[in-house]
Amino acid sequence: MRIALVTGASAGIGRAFARHLAAQGGHRLVLVARSAAILDAFAGELRDHHATEAEVIAADLTVPADRRRVIDRLTDQATPVDLLINAAGMGYSVPTTSNTFEREEYLLDINARSKLELTLHALRAMGGRGSGEIVNVSSVAALGPAWLDSTYGASQAYLLAATESLAYSARVRRSGVRLMALLPGDTRTEFNARAGIPDSTTPDWRWLSAERLVRDALRDLRAGRITSIPSRRYKVLAWALRHGPRSVAARVALDFGTLPPAPPVTR
Ligand SMILES: NC(=O)c1ccc[n+]([C@@H]2O[C@H](COP(=O)([O-])OP(=O)(O)OC[C@H]3O[C@@H](n4cnc5c(N)ncnc54)[C@H](OP(=O)(O)O)[C@@H]3O)[C@@H](O)[C@H]2O)c1
Repeated sequence: MRIALVTGASAGIGRAFARHLAAQGGHRLVLVARSAAILDAFAGELRDHHATEAEVIAADLTVPADRRRVIDRLTDQATPVDLLINAAGMGYSVPTTSNTFEREEYLLDINARSKLELTLHALRAMGGRGSGEIVNVSSVAALGPAWLDSTYGASQAYLLAATESLAYSARVRRSGVRLMALLPGDTRTEFNARAGIPDSTTPDWRWLSAERLVRDALRDLRAGRITSIPSRRYKVLAWALRHGPRSVAARVALDFGTLPPAPPVTR
């Protein structure tokens, strides 16, 4: 029985990964997020509906002591983790130019720094055993100026670049550990509501379901891909962002400085 550790497992993409792996069978789960009560209830649901055992670690991944507990579990060689899904993350609707630096730093911490730290610890633990898989959830916004007056894309670009740099390296390849960056487009989760981004900024055709995203991502992981961009429409958009002039992308980007003021972000 393999063990998968999923961060951001209380909602959205992380929760969809955990549910998919439980439904598929063959995995025990370690669920990580801040909301202990939601994780406990979810673990019970996975046990009842899918006969899947799930441990819960309530942790704020921006807090070093909490991150340490997650790393200790991740690197516990007595019950080794085979698959790490780094899905915890967030965004703001508050434009960067109106935000405090501390909040911008927090976003970088959760979207990039904490994921890199978990990745490096998992790489060492998995590499020592000669096998393992790591999925880092980034965003298509990592590929170009898709969000303006926002450091969100920069945080995701950091994670994408770090994941690609590790995944292509000969040393990591020889270690038997596979890394993949997942680049979702707009996906129906709690992300927009938490950030205070009105859903009306996203045309209907752009929405993906988290279930579809996860199914495509796991197929790409099994195929040995280093990046996964689920759905044909986002593959095309990603290609345009990567290869088209950045000034053209910026003209159709979402400019947070022009959005109506959102309710204050509480976390
Ligand atoms: N949804 C989209 O359209 C979309 C598109 C592209 C990329 N992404 C990326 O996908 C990732 C997941 O987003 P999502 O759509 O699943 O969002 P979501 O539905 O809001 O879920 C976010 C998850 O992250 C956890 N989390 C947030 N801050 C945390 C912290 N400090 N410590 C531990 N856990 C924390 C939340 O749990 P608690 O609140 O319980 O801690 C929750 O489980 C993010 O990095 C996001 O940028 C999303």
